[in-house]
Amino acid sequence: MSSIFCTHRIPETGLTLLREKGHTVEVAEKETPLTRDELLQALRAKPYDAVITLLTDHVDGEVFDACPTARIWSNYAVGFNNLNIEEAKKRGLIVTNTAGTSSRAVAEHTVALMLALSTRLDEGDRFMREGKFKGWDPDLLIGVDISESTVGLIGTGAIGHEVANILYKGFGAKIIYSDPVINKSIEDEFGARRYSVEDTLKQADFVSLHVPLMNETKHLLNKERIEMMKPTAFLINTARGPIIDEKALVEALRDKKIRGAGLDVFEFEPEITEGLLHLENVIVTPH
Ligand code: GLV
Repeated sequence: MSSIFCTHRIPETGLTLLREKGHTVEVAEKETPLTRDELLQALRAKPYDAVITLLTDHVDGEVFDACPTARIWSNYAVGFNNLNIEEAKKRGLIVTNTAGTSSRAVAEHTVALMLALSTRLDEGDRFMREGKFKGWDPDLLIGVDISESTVGLIGTGAIGHEVANILYKGFGAKIIYSDPVINKSIEDEFGARRYSVEDTLKQADFVSLHVPLMNETKHLLNKERIEMMKPTAFLINTARGPIIDEKALVEALRDKKIRGAGLDVFEFEPEITEGLLHLENVIVTPH
């Protein structure tokens, strides 16, 4: 049986599955992510056979070498930008992620952010709590209909596909997308048409990001591309923070170059770029 180290508490069901199979699982006790020194120290402490990491752990060659007995490194995340795959390959390690496990949940959260923006839900909530409601008013907090909107998906893996499914079948939204390869299933199932990133940005009323974070996608949404969006459009990010140049986004939102944003991920999380949280036209959730 194997001895496994988990760098942070994860839902008990996962740990129980491992323990029921006879494995020993040790879980780091700290509430917040381990610092790099703490991670290295914990890994050097025992000859574990496998390690469960979180997306907050930066797993590179030095980390792999801190526990050379561990042949399996399981990342408790769909994204794997926090792991140096090349270094893992060099050492012949098995690296896994949780692909597919949260596609529906992330897609529903994406749609929730879109709905919050389209219905101006949080603005309405603030308005009520601030005692501003003086009676029904036809002009008050008018939103937009997703059913009449074009949704532009940047990336159409499992999560992008599920977002298209909900928005097309549930709302009748028009779906367009950008992906390096043709996605026949979203074209056939949801009538989606493929465009370049730039043409997707220019046409969409909602732009939703569903690409992995890689060198090629870091700051994919830079100042220039953000400004290609319609001034009435919303930007949604439930993928990875650094895909957007957050400083450029704050400026675009402040100067009303775009209408709003729904963000579940942040470029420097848990730090948030100066100014973002003071903006009215953004809704934020904690990844
Ligand atoms: C969360 O962001 C994940 O990658 O699972």
